[in-house]
Amino acid sequence: MLCSDLHSALKPILARYEDSQIVVVRDEAVSGLGISELAIRVSEASKSLETVQQIWDFFFAQGLTRRALVIAIGGGVLTDIVGFAAATYKRGIDYLNIPTTLLAMIDASSGGKTGINYHGLKNSIGAFAQPIETLIWPGWLKTLPAKEMLSGFGELIKTGLIDEGLQVTGDRLWDKLLQYDLDRMDIEELTPLIAQGVAVKEQIVAADPHEEGLRKVLNFGHTFGHALEEVTGDGFQVTGAMPHGYAVVYGLIAELYLSVVKLNCPKEPLQQLTQIMLHYYGKPQCKCSERGQLIRLMQQDKKNERAAEINCTLIRSVGDPVINQVITPDEAHEALDYLFSL
Ligand code: GLY
Repeated sequence: MLCSDLHSALKPILARYEDSQIVVVRDEAVSGLGISELAIRVSEASKSLETVQQIWDFFFAQGLTRRALVIAIGGGVLTDIVGFAAATYKRGIDYLNIPTTLLAMIDASSGGKTGINYHGLKNSIGAFAQPIETLIWPGWLKTLPAKEMLSGFGELIKTGLIDEGLQVTGDRLWDKLLQYDLDRMDIEELTPLIAQGVAVKEQIVAADPHEEGLRKVLNFGHTFGHALEEVTGDGFQVTGAMPHGYAVVYGLIAELYLSVVKLNCPKEPLQQLTQIMLHYYGKPQCKCSERGQLIRLMQQDKKNERAAEINCTLIRSVGDPVINQVITPDEAHEALDYLFSL
């Protein structure tokens, strides 16, 4: 739920828990709510069992019962970990997300995917557990660095490509995204686009909460994107990895290229996104020698249903996604050639 005043939006929700305990787990970089809290420093490297244990210990120390509410305040890594800790504490307690980054607002904080990284594999331990609510207050974005704004915008671009959003507002999200001025990054102008993007995701998740089919459309751009993210980092220990939303934009270019080649998608969205990428995101910083490794990573992607297969969501046109498209290594090479030739 989008809100213009966080405290007023929280009030009726907190009233529902007035007979039980309410605690906050927040990123130490953001402000709290004056409620009992645990402030933790999070990064992809700390998306681990140790951090979950720290949160469980806090819940036990607070004596939380199964009727308690946990409020998670932070970016996507934090809301993923806290959601998982809440989903597993005493077989599950309620949690509410307050995302503080654009990436978390658009994607991670809604839809109920919670979890941690394990044995070097991203989000390999986790659970589907829906938050009781996600409160999106765009005020957090005023101080968010431009790079993080662009990263979140990458997921919004994906949403605009897979769903026209017509059922939400009657206007195509993709057209509005093309008109949005990324140089100014005006938060007020961005707010309705966030609302539309979140509404699109919520519709998809409501129809397929456990990703049995339709929800896979949200993975558009992510087969190539995850591989690029992994190849530019070093497991989860390095902070220099490509920001997630940048990797998604590069992945979208590769997968739009394949959509043109394999599904006859019109070239226009590929050309439009290529312009946006060159102007705002820059070229992917990746060496040609890494192509073999990228393909191997895509073959090992946890989304694959069959070993050593490269599986992507592609689009026939803007708003018309097709899931479970099998890509040959040669086709993947060709898409990477296109991406790295730009
Ligand atoms: N991040 C994609 C999903 O929630 O399914």
